[in-house]
Amino acid sequence: MTTQQGLKLVERDEEGVDTAFRADVLEGLSQSQKATPARWLYDDAGSQLFEDITQLPEYYPTRAETDILRTRGAEFADMIGSGRAVVEFGSGSSVKTPLLLSAIAPAAYVPLDISGDFLRAAADELAGKFPDLPVYPVEADFMRTVALPDEVADMPKLGFFPGSTIGNMVARTAVDLLRNMRETLGVGAKLLIGMDLIKDEDVLIAAYDDAAGVTAQFNINLLHRINRELDGDIPVDAFVHEARWHDEYARIEMHLVAQRDITFDVSGQSFTMTEGDTIHTENSHKFDRRTSNMLLLAAGWEPQERWLDSKERFSLMLAEAKPPRSAP
Ligand code: AVI
Repeated sequence: MTTQQGLKLVERDEEGVDTAFRADVLEGLSQSQKATPARWLYDDAGSQLFEDITQLPEYYPTRAETDILRTRGAEFADMIGSGRAVVEFGSGSSVKTPLLLSAIAPAAYVPLDISGDFLRAAADELAGKFPDLPVYPVEADFMRTVALPDEVADMPKLGFFPGSTIGNMVARTAVDLLRNMRETLGVGAKLLIGMDLIKDEDVLIAAYDDAAGVTAQFNINLLHRINRELDGDIPVDAFVHEARWHDEYARIEMHLVAQRDITFDVSGQSFTMTEGDTIHTENSHKFDRRTSNMLLLAAGWEPQERWLDSKERFSLMLAEAKPPRSAP
């Protein structure tokens, strides 16, 4: 069976299994360092757990970014100007998006999301808050180049990508995405993007291994999902969540660590792990001024401004897609 989800086909087999999920899990579990793409953490339960994470005392990024959006509105207005079509990569947050829109008086709002349900719910909520703002939701996989609605074709654009979601991608994928954003928005567009900052290792580890164990549940939920959707018999109780700081790559890694030797099946394939082996489930890269500039420049975005929250934990970067020019 094949169902249409926006522009991307979600392929399901006769049993209704998402074939991309199965392929990624089987391939990832077959590697010597087992690993699964982070996007599979976000089934319904995982998405709810992530929402819970954003409220945790240790998880500072959401509050820090909101603090910037709340306090720097006048500067955004100054640097970005009014009358732009704001193109948000993702459905939009009920708190962050209104703060930006109130600050810059845009001409239109275009949320892009692969999940039509999320998209419509978020767009409706937003339209309720800004009754005079034209809202044009687009169901699309924003990792690729997206055709924007004709209505915004002649408007100057502002891309908005909060949350430091860019940090969940390895550099190659992040640059591909930023390049596609440039292609989607066009020369002259601006981009406001959240990037979490490198900081004290203890603060980072606590943010990804909170005392209440919510991040651990978020990580372990992947094993329940594999067992449920891919006919697996992974002994979930054999795993513990671990957050590691990888200093060379400036990233937090989430791992599921086997506490004993185990053998399990997923979709009819057998896997073994020895005590201490891990499944690497997520990266969350952290940046400083130079690495965030470099990432943007690598994709054709010229950095223009950088705002930090009052405790200097998180950054919002403003960049512009300048026309290509000769340079030494
Ligand atoms: C969605 N993303 C930006 C989160 C982060 O901080 O990397 C995902 C997350 N994983 C564990 N906690 C939060």
